[in-house]
Amino acid sequence: MYLGPFLMNDKTYYIETYGCQMNEYDSALVEGLLETEGYTKAPSPEGADVVLVNTCSVREKAEETAYEKLRNLQALKKAKPGMKLGMIGCMAENKKESVYARLPKLDLAVGPDHYEELPRLLGLSGRNTSVGTSRESVYEGAYAQAISGALAHVAVQRGCNFHCAYCIVPSTRGPEKSRSLHDVLEEVRRLAAKGVVEISLLGQTVNAYRAKDGSWIELLAAVSEVAGIERIRYTSPHPRYFTRPVVEAMARLPKVMPHVHLPVQSGSTPILKAMRRQYTRDHYLATIERLRELIPGAAVTTDIIAGFPGETLEDHEATLSLMEAVRFEQAYMFAYSPRPGTPSFGMAESIDAAEKQRRLAEIIELQHGHARQRLDESVGLTESVMLEGPSRREASEWIGKTPQSRKVIVAPGEGARAGQILPVKVTARRGTVLWGEVAR
Ligand code: SAH
Ligand code: SF4
Ligand code: F3S
Repeated sequence: MYLGPFLMNDKTYYIETYGCQMNEYDSALVEGLLETEGYTKAPSPEGADVVLVNTCSVREKAEETAYEKLRNLQALKKAKPGMKLGMIGCMAENKKESVYARLPKLDLAVGPDHYEELPRLLGLSGRNTSVGTSRESVYEGAYAQAISGALAHVAVQRGCNFHCAYCIVPSTRGPEKSRSLHDVLEEVRRLAAKGVVEISLLGQTVNAYRAKDGSWIELLAAVSEVAGIERIRYTSPHPRYFTRPVVEAMARLPKVMPHVHLPVQSGSTPILKAMRRQYTRDHYLATIERLRELIPGAAVTTDIIAGFPGETLEDHEATLSLMEAVRFEQAYMFAYSPRPGTPSFGMAESIDAAEKQRRLAEIIELQHGHARQRLDESVGLTESVMLEGPSRREASEWIGKTPQSRKVIVAPGEGARAGQILPVKVTARRGTVLWGEVAR
């Protein structure tokens, strides 16, 4: 369709995203930036004028995947010499010195703290943007939010002031910074006006949130006040700041869902100390106990690293016993990956790759059992399920979530829409999903 002379240009972009939810959020931000310049989204990188890969550095494998992707994308420049190929995200920050040598056709590499430079680096005016492309405005989420139907993510805090021994994030994303409560609320209100029902607050250590005009608890309370917002989630909090007042606030704010993703990393106090996590096994367990006491039925998910340098069999068994004690709903489980530049990089690894994989497999196996047990706790109950969207398998079936984030498949009938919250009687678990019927 010809849109006349008002269309700024007919150029297209394509962004491929790896890594965590913060990268997903940032990709939406950059899409917004390009769209205000008149670019439209291309269905694939072939033929697009701007191709960006949003990268992750958290484990070696993530970096290898991104290198391979970009190596392949370089070939597209033969067919379209004017195409701009860029690396954005954590790896662009982490590898900014070496990346051009490895990817000779790369036009730009811009880390997560410098996206305001993108229009200039892409040769764009930056003039078409309604609120400018100053550093601040880019990160105020003024352009776009990662929205999928009735759900939206809002970044409230970026960067990290912890220095966990294994972790690259503090060097790729820099020190902690919080957006003002005022700006966050404005964004949440704007989203609510567009029909968003569930807000997920994002930050590397999200509960470290502290702005001039509000604390983490004040933020949860203020978002709870926004009309139209029914459910509030957040990721990832740090156990160190998961204090009693925070749990109490969750307990008295019914819109804050009873699900916490609280990365533990290890169940062994000596390993936690070597990891510089700033809490002990007992502190973590006491936190979970308090949570379950004040919010009965709260779901807890986590991250676990197997085979940190110095981990003995006893330390590994402590992780398994902590898992038994907590019975996590879900976990992201990883083999330790040494990252150059992090404090633990030089530390001698105590076990070989095979033993690391064996321990990881043991953790995964145990976790799968716990996940099934937790899901089974919903079977027979009537849960309040928020519909997210139709399932890909069958048009009449929708995917929804319980307050604990358990996935439920249900056939809601005519007139179903994303964001609708229905009472659903859970009838069965099949694999890792629940099935239910609308309770009428
Ligand atoms: N800010 C979050 C975690 C961000 S990174 C937190 O503190 O909990 C996401 C997860 O990746 C971490 O929780 C950790 O389990 C894993 N991870 C980070 N660095 C790693 C490494 N070097 N090797 C293996 N897993 C790692
Ligand atoms: Fe990494 Fe630790 Fe910061 Fe999480 S808290 S981002 S694991 S340094
Ligand atoms: Fe990866 Fe950066 Fe997220 S290193 S996990 S994309 S913060």
